[in-house]
Amino acid sequence: MTFTITIAGAGSGYTPGILLTILNFKKEFPVNEIRLYDIDEEKNSDMGIIIDYLLKKRKESIKIIVTTDPKKAFEGSDFIFSQIRVGGMEMREKDEKIPLKYGLVGQETCGLGGFSYGMRSMKGFLEMVGYIQKYSPEAWILNYTNPESIIAEAVRRKFPHIKIINACDMTIGIEEMLEHSFGYDRKNFISTYYGLNHFGWYKEIYDITREMDIMPEILEKIVSSGFDTSIQDDSWAHAFNIMADMTKIFPTYLPNNYLQYYLLSDRIIKNEDPNYTRANQIMDNRLKKIKETVCNIKENKDLDTIDYESSNHGLYIVEIAVSLIHNKNDRFMLIVPNQGSIPNLREDAVVEIPCYVNSKGVEPIALKDKIPDFHKGLMEAQVAAEKLLVDAFFENSYQKALEAFTLNQTVPNATVAKKVLDEMIEENGDYWVDLN
Ligand code: G6P
Ligand code: MN
Repeated sequence: MTFTITIAGAGSGYTPGILLTILNFKKEFPVNEIRLYDIDEEKNSDMGIIIDYLLKKRKESIKIIVTTDPKKAFEGSDFIFSQIRVGGMEMREKDEKIPLKYGLVGQETCGLGGFSYGMRSMKGFLEMVGYIQKYSPEAWILNYTNPESIIAEAVRRKFPHIKIINACDMTIGIEEMLEHSFGYDRKNFISTYYGLNHFGWYKEIYDITREMDIMPEILEKIVSSGFDTSIQDDSWAHAFNIMADMTKIFPTYLPNNYLQYYLLSDRIIKNEDPNYTRANQIMDNRLKKIKETVCNIKENKDLDTIDYESSNHGLYIVEIAVSLIHNKNDRFMLIVPNQGSIPNLREDAVVEIPCYVNSKGVEPIALKDKIPDFHKGLMEAQVAAEKLLVDAFFENSYQKALEAFTLNQTVPNATVAKKVLDEMIEENGDYWVDLN
């Protein structure tokens, strides 16, 4: 059996890495056709040129379709890998810069930037899911589109029976830092992690070769020597350094690095340049590189400098597909309805926890114990804020949006919440639903 896959948001700089991972897995995951789908025609056709080049170079005969038409993209597709970014980097830049102007955290998925993106993303993602329902209702959607907790909540309200798996690669990124910094091999890990997306903690890391929980040892190493961040770019190196400091302050569980936007927002804000944020870095590096590569391919020059690597994004998503197809029951951190898995957290929260993936889909693994009040309190507030935002979206409610913005853990008062909300409404225009 061979598969047809659609990469939605194919203009993204992550697409070459995903393609290379697919090729690495061709025995377990044989693909005969890849559709590159993006509403940005120029970015999509640029990516088509790169993908075509990479395939020819490797003498692979996968059929490539480059399209902005949802029917051509989805009809007959078996898997949809979604990494769409509604509003692109231009809007990411605004999500980051507007809150910073008011002295608040400005970030892609956390704080009010994440909420602004959430409003755009719900609109674009649900529209796309509507097309998938129409043209390929049996396809599996393997979703990376951010902000994932908000997307997962919105999708389950509108399409409760849809075949979707929501996954984030950040926990792999963290485990790779443990490997790189301290010499572990994450293949030996059975990890227990809980939280919301980009908002969670490792509780246990069981090492199958040593037959024990090595979390205490890992925490001690992080507290005493921090991470070796030499493999990261400056921005990610900074994030992992603050993550180590966060672990020193709360040394009982290993936090997801993204918690720094909530727990150490003072340090984050101090380090930001309000005129040059992460979006600018990406536009000036990753996106420029794509343009240069396309030029080189077209002009047939410097072809030996074209170099892409299989990425975590690709690896995680392809491994999930392989576990589904071959009923492997592999274990992944996935974003699923709580329904009692975290016993003392509201059951209608969308949480990120370990799950098995098999032919039936996703089987969440329930935690045995209650989580500590510190984590529960932070999570309950964040869940409520996210739910209010999703309510605001479906009910076109300004009031609920204002409540969501005010409750967000990066916001000190309703005055500033309202100022940012009003500016976000203005700047997002038709990317958002109308709020009355
Ligand atoms: C991690 C997160 C993603 C996020 C990405 C941003 O991979 O899990 O959800 O989008 O980082 O990275 P970037 O390099 O684009 O800032
Ligand atoms: Mn993520």
